[in-house]
Amino acid sequence: MSTYTEEKRKVTTQRLLEMKQRGEKISMLTAYDYSMASIIDRAGMDVILVGDSAGNVMAGHTTTLPVTLDQMIWYAQAVRKAVKRALVVVDLPFGSYQGNSKEAVCSAIRIMKETGADAVKMEGGREIRESVERILSAGIPIMGHLGLTPQSINKFGTYAVRAQDKAEADKLLSDAHLLEDLGCFGIVLEKIPAQLGKQVATELAIPLIGIGAGGYVDGQVLVMHDMLGINTAFSPRFLRRYANLYEVIRGAAEHYIQDVKSGDFPNEKESY
Ligand code: KIV
Repeated sequence: MSTYTEEKRKVTTQRLLEMKQRGEKISMLTAYDYSMASIIDRAGMDVILVGDSAGNVMAGHTTTLPVTLDQMIWYAQAVRKAVKRALVVVDLPFGSYQGNSKEAVCSAIRIMKETGADAVKMEGGREIRESVERILSAGIPIMGHLGLTPQSINKFGTYAVRAQDKAEADKLLSDAHLLEDLGCFGIVLEKIPAQLGKQVATELAIPLIGIGAGGYVDGQVLVMHDMLGINTAFSPRFLRRYANLYEVIRGAAEHYIQDVKSGDFPNEKESY
């Protein structure tokens, strides 16, 4: 079953580029804690994203906006300790890089220094150009994020598919070129038409990782809790569920409660 665990070498940004060049798709999934990161790293995941979606699935916020830099560092430290092979990318949270480029580079340096991550991810194109340049000039690899950028949800006012009209599609394409020209090693494309995803992935040399961006891009990313079926309330069209852990965990919890209440647990073998 396990074919992707053969290659034990650490994944680097250079290796992702080589994967794109030879047409090998890139697998990417989020993680926020040691135990889950350890499992998906052993499974052979190429990239593990410590996403600010932690704000939704770990902390219960309705948006990613309340997540702080200290919180991202805490999650990332736990993930980094577990990961031996995957490239670890950490989201710069809302408010840690949009204000000014000096603050942006300080935030990125804290992530790299305090967590041991391999790279940071930032949302936006030309609006954050100065911050991107300054972080890259400090030697920190950046993954961009375009399309439905959740930190801008209040500006969008909706989680609908982005870049459906020509003006927004043109801007996305030119932002993608800009991020590549500045030196980003990859870009996440979220919730955009598949044909636009194809065009960006064809025009750019760096890997494009999609979430709701169709099958023509160079890799796919999902939020762990969504793909494992822990979070059942969220079911956009782009999501494929690979397990139904909500049922598994709830069933186990109900069984345990029953056994405790009935006195069945612990039995003699489980006692000293
Ligand atoms: O925070 C996150 O999990 C993300 C993914 C949706 C790409 O940015």
